[in-house]
Amino acid sequence: MKKLLALVLAGMMAFSLTACGDGGSSSSEGSASDGSSAAGGEDKAVTIGVTIYKYDDNFMSYVRNDMDKIVAEMDGKVTLSMNDSQNNQSTQNDQVDTMIGSNVDALAINLVDPQAAAVVQKKAQDAEIPIVFFNKEPDLATMQEYDKSFYVGTTSSESGVEQGNVVVDYLKADADKKWDKNGDGKIQYLMMKGEPGHPDAEARTEYSVKTIKDAGYEMELLAPEDTAMWDTAKAKELMDNWYAQYGDKIELVLCNNDGMALGVVSSLTANKVNGKVMVAGVDALPEVMDYIESGDMIGTVLNDDQNQAQAVIDLAVNLARGNDPLAGTSWKFDETGKSVRVPYKAVTKENYKEFVK
Ligand code: GAL
Ligand code: CA
Repeated sequence: MKKLLALVLAGMMAFSLTACGDGGSSSSEGSASDGSSAAGGEDKAVTIGVTIYKYDDNFMSYVRNDMDKIVAEMDGKVTLSMNDSQNNQSTQNDQVDTMIGSNVDALAINLVDPQAAAVVQKKAQDAEIPIVFFNKEPDLATMQEYDKSFYVGTTSSESGVEQGNVVVDYLKADADKKWDKNGDGKIQYLMMKGEPGHPDAEARTEYSVKTIKDAGYEMELLAPEDTAMWDTAKAKELMDNWYAQYGDKIELVLCNNDGMALGVVSSLTANKVNGKVMVAGVDALPEVMDYIESGDMIGTVLNDDQNQAQAVIDLAVNLARGNDPLAGTSWKFDETGKSVRVPYKAVTKENYKEFVK
């Protein structure tokens, strides 16, 4: 009886494989939604070739683990071929060549260098393989050159605005203005940037400050903004230098991400002034929640790794099966028809418990 069942199942699988082996021309029927959140349509077995710009990045390691988990909970017919690009674009280019050579059905690419989108996309286009970029946003003009090229990410400026709001709300709630250590009414601050040229880093740097100024606060930048490349150890070192130079003058440190905020807090702790300087990050890493509770950080901004991972898998699987990229999902493209943007959310002492995983 068991044998018979196995035979029937094997027969069904063989049928469904041949049924979609015709280059996907029968795929339009696959766009019917079954109401589930998984990518809809045909269930052809597919392999998605994934690159992560480097595994050694706090936030991206959450995205990567989410992707693995999502696929493990699917029907067993989606395989990820996952690569660590080790922060090296030419390594990533080789990985893409290798994956195309082994006939992956779609690519999901976290670029090392956002400027490399055209080169990577051309490889996919020449091989007629769909490509979903994620996290590092390529420029729109590049994506518009290939009808099977899409992006999953966020609206970068929104994270800057939300981080600015975290600061403004904190200042407003501080009735006796303890934040203003020198009592001059201005905010003496430092700006710790992520990777220069990264759309998220540039937008967070600009919009956080703009939001605080627009709320009517005067700000004074103590040292030229500097980068710690999203990295905790580099951030600790930079903050050690800044503290040695500016000491008690520092009232606020804006960090483009939580990875760096962790380094800042550890430097301030070593100098015994943690909790006496306002520190804000972005990402809402689980590691920062205790610091928000203790007051070592005033807040962060949720960068929604789970929904971004889900959208990448949904779009890539749909495209791999020849379906409409959004088939059977609730994602929507922005006005360009190319990008799915997952919203950010401010996280402070008031609401952080909602974000503890
Ligand atoms: C950002 C994130 C950073 C870093 C970067 C990598 O969205 O906030 O922590 O992971 O992506 O591209
Ligand atoms: Ca001041």
